[in-house]
Amino acid sequence: MRQKWTSKIGIILAVAGSAVGLGNFLRFPSQAAQNGGGAFMIPYFVSLFLLGIPLIWIEWAIGRYGGLFGHGTAPLIFNRLWKHRASKYFGAIGVFGPLAIFIYYIYIESWLLGYAFYSLKGTCTHLSNQAGAVDFLHKYQGISSKDIFLVTYLFFVLTFIVNFTIIYKGVKGGIERLCKLALPLLFIFAIVIAIRVITLGAPVAGHPDWNISNGFGFLWNPDFKALLNAKVWLAAAGQILFTLSVGIGVIITYASYLSKGDDIILSGLTASSLNEFAEVILGGSIIIPLAFAFFGGAGATEIAQSGSFNIGFVSMPLIFTKINYGMVFSFMWFFLLFLAGLTSSISLLEPAVAFLSDDLGISRKKAVSILGVISFLICQFPIFFLARGVVDEIDFWAGSFFLIVFALAECILFVWIFGIDKAWNEMHHGAELNIPRFYKFIIKYITPLFLIFVLGFWLFQQAVPTFLLKGVARENIPYILATRLGFVMLFIVIAILVRKAHKKHFQVKE
Ligand code: PFF
Repeated sequence: MRQKWTSKIGIILAVAGSAVGLGNFLRFPSQAAQNGGGAFMIPYFVSLFLLGIPLIWIEWAIGRYGGLFGHGTAPLIFNRLWKHRASKYFGAIGVFGPLAIFIYYIYIESWLLGYAFYSLKGTCTHLSNQAGAVDFLHKYQGISSKDIFLVTYLFFVLTFIVNFTIIYKGVKGGIERLCKLALPLLFIFAIVIAIRVITLGAPVAGHPDWNISNGFGFLWNPDFKALLNAKVWLAAAGQILFTLSVGIGVIITYASYLSKGDDIILSGLTASSLNEFAEVILGGSIIIPLAFAFFGGAGATEIAQSGSFNIGFVSMPLIFTKINYGMVFSFMWFFLLFLAGLTSSISLLEPAVAFLSDDLGISRKKAVSILGVISFLICQFPIFFLARGVVDEIDFWAGSFFLIVFALAECILFVWIFGIDKAWNEMHHGAELNIPRFYKFIIKYITPLFLIFVLGFWLFQQAVPTFLLKGVARENIPYILATRLGFVMLFIVIAILVRKAHKKHFQVKE
């Protein structure tokens, strides 16, 4: 008997938990500020309505459909949608992709727990300037010295244990329970911090124009020229997929624990709305307006361009040193990010567990143990070779490339091969809300075409130079190549297991 969610709110919070993550609070503001500020929001919302929402419904529908056959992951579900021998290998991305993201995501998540601890200890709130904050981050990462690296490692192990304990406890007792607690808590923390930000006024004496409302203006005033830049569209589409956790198979697995008559249309929309609230309203109201109010326009630009890590781990602690009760706010910030990360990372583990147990017949507990050992070993790579660019490399492929490829594959399979009419009916089983009819056109034509455009442009602009190692420091090349080799090996192992699972279920000889 496969597991099931115990309540509608349970799955909505679990999907929202997967979606709301580091992407909302760190990646989104830095992407928006780097890609035209307010103008970024136009491609962002266009991508939400033409890519994000259709894919959300597609993934929920594919997942619930697969669950009826006892499958929880893409490989064998894709095979049910398209009886071609290749389909299951596209589906293999739905097990491989989440694992690949997990491997680095959990490490960053563990820093947040570490920083929450250092906030309470007072270390984070005693940093005096940018150089000091960068130095502390590098120490924490074990890059400049190994002084506190043991602490870093212990926080990683703790985070790892927490993740696997939750997954071990299963869908109901682990994932659903955690999300029902963690999501409200993280929303409360984020709202409290956002209110504190909004009421700050102009915190730096002598700079009345460095105020919060100008900070919002800095983020939201549109630079319309940015709209002509395809890179901005690519960044917006990529952000939508990443933030909604679509295009990698995670939602398929979560939705496979639904029952036949359960609604997916309204539930999918609700979970996405929670994510968008967390991203646009909360994520957009914290870091960038704060950076502007404390460091002015030039400072905020520099910070936004320095990437999401610097914003979160360098600028934010520095800002908290300048706010009353900074220690408390600093703790709230890092702890809320840790919770957001945790509810996302467990969703990245579930597909592999579901695949091993549903399709290969291994008991859940055994599957979790096997996965625990293997992923622990693989995680060492980003931990020890962070400075070699390994995390960026994994993020680049797993967090962009596979998302787009898998999204395109599932869209074409469901809408074109399974067929739009059947797909439309499948989505509407038990629906508590009808999708407006014009969405049928969007889902059939616009979503796949948009994805093809994004993939094509991405390949042309980013993948080719990256593939050829443009801009990689000479001494890092072996590590980057090793990462790629590791990726290929992991994919081959999963593909072999997929083939085995297929044989087991369909008794065919290939
Ligand atoms: N949506 C998460 C975030 O915004 O941080 C990241 C993520 C989780 C991406 C799960 C993909 C995924 F399957």
